[in-house]
Order: sequence, then C-alpha cells, then structure tokens
Amino acid sequence: MGNKIRLFVNVDHVATIREARKTVEPDPLEAALLAEKSGADGITVHLREDRRHIQDDDVSHIREKIHTVLNLEMAAVEEMVQIALKTKPYQVSLVPEKRQEITTEGGLNVISQKEHLKNVRERIQSQGIRFSLFVDPDPRQIDAARELGAESIEINTGLYTELSDDVAIQRELEKIRNSARHATELGLRVFAGHGLTDENVVAIAGIPEIEELNIGHSLVSRSVYYGLEQAVQNMIQAIQKGITQRPH
Ligand code: PXP
Repeated sequence: MGNKIRLFVNVDHVATIREARKTVEPDPLEAALLAEKSGADGITVHLREDRRHIQDDDVSHIREKIHTVLNLEMAAVEEMVQIALKTKPYQVSLVPEKRQEITTEGGLNVISQKEHLKNVRERIQSQGIRFSLFVDPDPRQIDAARELGAESIEINTGLYTELSDDVAIQRELEKIRNSARHATELGLRVFAGHGLTDENVVAIAGIPEIEELNIGHSLVSRSVYYGLEQAVQNMIQAIQKGITQRPH
C-alpha cells in the first residue's frame, strides 16, 4: 500500500483496428511506446486463443521493444503457457476465456480448477515470471487464489463499471473494497481492471490496497478524439485524484 498506482495500458484494441483490415496499422507496439512516453508504467496484451486482436508476433515485438514491462493476459491452456515460458514477460495474468464472448466476462473460477492453476503457477514462476489471477470480488475465490500460491490478484471491476443505479454502484464498490482488504490480509498484492474510464476510475483508485490498474478500451476509444498520449495523461490525472481521496 502506498500513494502510487502503476498504470498498465492494454493495447489490444489498437490491434483490433488493425485486424479489421488485416493490415499493418495501427501497430500496438507504436501505441505501447506512446503510452510509455505519456507515463504508463507497463503494457498489457491479451493473446486470445482465436487471435482476434493481438498476434503472436505482437507479443514478442512488444516484449523486446518496450522500455517498461509486459503483462501477458492469457487463458490457462497449454498453448499459452508454452508461449509465456518462451516469451518470459514480466507478469502473466490468467483470465477465463470463451471464444464467443466479446470481452472477458467475469473472473476465473479459481475454486473449481485449483490444482490446474497451481500447476500453471509453478511452471510460470519457475521462470521468474510474476503470476496473477483475475477474479471477481468474491472472498471465496480470493481464498482459493491464496491457497494455490498466487502472489497477486486482479479484481474484476467489470460489473461496477456497467451499473447505473447509484445504490448498486456503492454496493459493488463496497464488495471491491472488502475484497481488496481481505486479499491484503492474506498477503496478496491487489490489482484491478476492466471497464475503467477516467470517470469511474477515481473511486477505484481511492481504495488504498490497489497497486496496479489494467486499462485498455477506454484509452483506445478516447485516443480517437484527442490522441493516446492525452488519453493516458487524463487517466493518470484521474488516478491521482482518486489517490488523494484515500482514507488516511
Ligand atoms: N483486465 C483484464 C483481466 C482484462 O481481460 C481486460 C480486458 O482485456 C482488462 C483488464 C482491460 O479492460 P478494458 O479494456 O475494459 O479497460
């Protein structure tokens, strides 16, 4: 816990635009370099099994060329584990993945696949790669993450960002706060992400346990209006505003 949050910029949707034409631009590597210039602390990519946006070459180019560090989001399947062991990113974040989904739809069911995830963790960590699990704000899933030896969790903020009713938003925020506190008490480091914008990020950045945020879609969307550098800078300002609102 401290008064800094690391911002990891997810460049998947730069590749989504490129793949719409199967051409060479926009290049997620160029976007990653711009994001770094604007203050990003790391870059995130999700190599999906259907390769709908990020391609294998993107992962290796970004890993080689960025000046910060790469967080690789992936499903806990053998193909991806092999790629991670070969590419050696700074961190692997396991996410659930369904081919039909538009985006990641929820956190991992850690409880139901604890042994499998423990095995993946051991192989990933044996190469000095950090290991994180994307989970819903559910204490039972967080307990299971701890039991299999995860060092950190990323709390799914997706539902919080989709709600419009104020009472429901506050209730979901409370779940996220309690989950963050619970995870810290277990010795886990706490990250968060999904659906965050420079409006709804403020309350999340106000949670003292949160160390790292993964943000993609909103940054790429707003870069259409005023450029990625400005979009990243606005996000950093919003995160700073949240940090100043943390309880003392
Ligand atoms: N964290 C995880 C685990 C994700 O799967 C995603 C989406 O790829 C994000 C964060 C970023 O979400 P968004 O693109 O909505 O900012």
